[in-house]
Amino acid sequence: MHLAGKKIILGVTGSIAAYKTPELVRQLIKAGAEVRVITTAMAEGFVSPLALATVSRHPVLNSISDGSSWNNHVELGLWADAMLIAPCSANTLAKIAHGLCDNLLTAVYLSARCPIFIAPAMDEDMWLHQSTRNNVQTLRTYGNRIIPVAHGELASGLVGEGRMAEPAAIVSYLAEVLSEDNKPLKGISALVTAGPTFERIDPVRFVGNFSTGKMGIAIAEALADRGAKVTLVLGPTHLNTYHRDIKLVRVESAAEMYDACMKTFPQSEIAVMAAAVADYKPKERAAEKIKKKAETLELSLTKTNDILASLGKIKKGGQLLAGFALETTNELQNAMEKMKSKNADMMALNSLRDEGAGFGHDTNKLTLLDTRGYNEQLPLMSKRDSAEAIVKHILELRHAEKTA
Ligand code: CTP
Repeated sequence: MHLAGKKIILGVTGSIAAYKTPELVRQLIKAGAEVRVITTAMAEGFVSPLALATVSRHPVLNSISDGSSWNNHVELGLWADAMLIAPCSANTLAKIAHGLCDNLLTAVYLSARCPIFIAPAMDEDMWLHQSTRNNVQTLRTYGNRIIPVAHGELASGLVGEGRMAEPAAIVSYLAEVLSEDNKPLKGISALVTAGPTFERIDPVRFVGNFSTGKMGIAIAEALADRGAKVTLVLGPTHLNTYHRDIKLVRVESAAEMYDACMKTFPQSEIAVMAAAVADYKPKERAAEKIKKKAETLELSLTKTNDILASLGKIKKGGQLLAGFALETTNELQNAMEKMKSKNADMMALNSLRDEGAGFGHDTNKLTLLDTRGYNEQLPLMSKRDSAEAIVKHILELRHAEKTA
């Protein structure tokens, strides 16, 4: 009963996969959930409201008003512990990505404060269209979770990507995130850094790097999903995240990141330094824009504070400190040395020589190392899965520490 007592709103939209939703409702209820179903007008062409009402044991809601009374979308949004939109058509996906609310389902989505799960279902060409890609990406930045689509036969008769995940896979995905059994970090505070830093040269220029913050954001989300209260200190990036257990602190420079970390670290049991912090900053910041005059311009740079090393110096028993090592040569040895010199408990080694790994990619190929001699090379995987592997190792280290 992984979803015992959880109140779930299931939004069903117009896709052939809607015929699977009575079975989905049945499985959610079997897992212990209470389910209310909202359909769009198009959905009812694919699945009977009577079937959904019968399995959910509640009337199916489909419009904001039935003529004499209205379905309070705000109340419904507040009632739910989770909202699941399955199947989510390309049309509804686009609407919710842009805040349109022309039916009860989209109005409830906009009012809901609970975690949202979206199981898309559409033809492969629609799924791969840049506009759908952008909408999915936008929804992720709102903290919505996209349940991966499956590969197989599609309504068009073609075979490809875009099928709704099977009901059993959807239920276990929800259980993984919502189940209280899956919150080993409940009550634990964690600090994560992510993104680049920008070191100003003058009012219009800076010294920076290509980091986007994707990896660190994924780590913050993975920790928060395990129940931790996370402070994410994020350098200047266009990426964003929303999670009710993540406090976002936006900074620009290495000095600002250092200050935010020094303030938060003493209250944190776990710290993961995933930011690409500038090692040097301009010695002086020009008050006015530097004019183009001489043939050459020399910038004088000075070292920034090493945040990971500074935290390593003040680390106390019971605090776990993890760092990243970005290397281009002699990777393993350099990472080991960094772990030792900065007093970190574990390191994730990133090699820029690996295809598909590093700045801006959706994937990463990491090697995890710790002071106990652990050394595992992970395969190329999504940054989200890499983050899960890092958090899993953090949990193992904490467990080993407690049982030592
Ligand atoms: N780091 C930090 N503060 C800095 C520089 C780096 O906290 N001023 C952290 C990074 O977040 C990362 C680790 O230190 O967790 C290693 O960063 P990396 O760039 O690989 O190493 P550096 O120490 O900067 O050494 P080098 O550039 O010589 O490889």
